[in-house]
Amino acid sequence: MSKAPDKPRGGPNSSSTPSGIPRSPRVIAVSSGKGGVGKSNLTLGLALALASLKKKVLIWDADLGLANTDVLLGIRTRYTIHDWLKGAKPLEDIVIDVPGGISILPAASGILELSDITREDKERLISDFKGWREDLDFMLIDTAAGIGQNVIFFNLVASEHIVVLTNEPTSITDAYALIKSLATKHRQTGFYVLPNMVEDLHEAKKVFKILADVAGKHLPQVSLDLAGFVPRDEAVPDAVRRQSPFFTLYPASDASRKILETARRLLSVEPPPPERAGGIALLIDRLGASPLAVN
Ligand SMILES: Nc1ncnc2c1ncn2[C@@H]1O[C@H](COP(=O)(O)OP(=O)(O)OP(=O)(O)O)[C@@H](O)[C@H]1O
Ligand SMILES: [Mg+2]
Repeated sequence: MSKAPDKPRGGPNSSSTPSGIPRSPRVIAVSSGKGGVGKSNLTLGLALALASLKKKVLIWDADLGLANTDVLLGIRTRYTIHDWLKGAKPLEDIVIDVPGGISILPAASGILELSDITREDKERLISDFKGWREDLDFMLIDTAAGIGQNVIFFNLVASEHIVVLTNEPTSITDAYALIKSLATKHRQTGFYVLPNMVEDLHEAKKVFKILADVAGKHLPQVSLDLAGFVPRDEAVPDAVRRQSPFFTLYPASDASRKILETARRLLSVEPPPPERAGGIALLIDRLGASPLAVN
């Protein structure tokens, strides 16, 4: 089930296609099914690791219920996506640059339901991104737990998907439920799998195999790719307590080294072709065509 390594991309800093057409950022949703498996910490770590490899990265904190990228960073955000939705602020005023060379689009914690966003708002949101999309290499979307409509929405906004899971039956089952929903109801077929809080590569492969075996049996159209793994490492909760990213605070920790390997692995794979990777029109199309009631 694991894919053979993909072709290398066109150099580490290729910002345009060979034909000179500006390249859109790779938009990657980080989801999990089960909550509390490390999505927010790994998204932040991955963003900082990619930035350390000279990539321009934005994190879209899309956990609309319990946003916490700002808490992990120990910063207070002034405006949120809610201000943009009310028409009070343009996106440029909402996005903030944070130490480590990344920027954050803060969520509106606890005050925004996706069902409140009209189709016009979604179109406006996506076309507003157009202005500064081109200078970004990556947009990482840190989603909420579960397979509710917000999570599905943000996975459809993305063209690549990272599924974080731990070596617990509940986490593996929920990861599978998420993949199944995206594959059968929304025609998404490629997923990176990122085991977290495991001992070593051996355990990561074991977790991956359990998931891949079930998917191989019931979802033959799906292709899973082990993106790497992150070991259980006290550096992560310690950094959380200090409200500083583990990648910045403990760059030599096992967790930081492994997230850097994952970043390198992501850079080494060919992103989906442009017709799948987005284009504003396609995205709007996708949103229009995708009923958001998914449960
Ligand atoms: N590799 C790791 N080693 C040790 N602890 C970890 C590791 N990764 C995450 N944790 C701990 O797991 C907890 C949950 O992490 P995090 O908030 O990133 O998960 P989440 O999936 O984003 O949660 P939610 O579903 O609530 O959004 C945190 O307390 C964090 O310190
Ligand atoms: Mg989270």
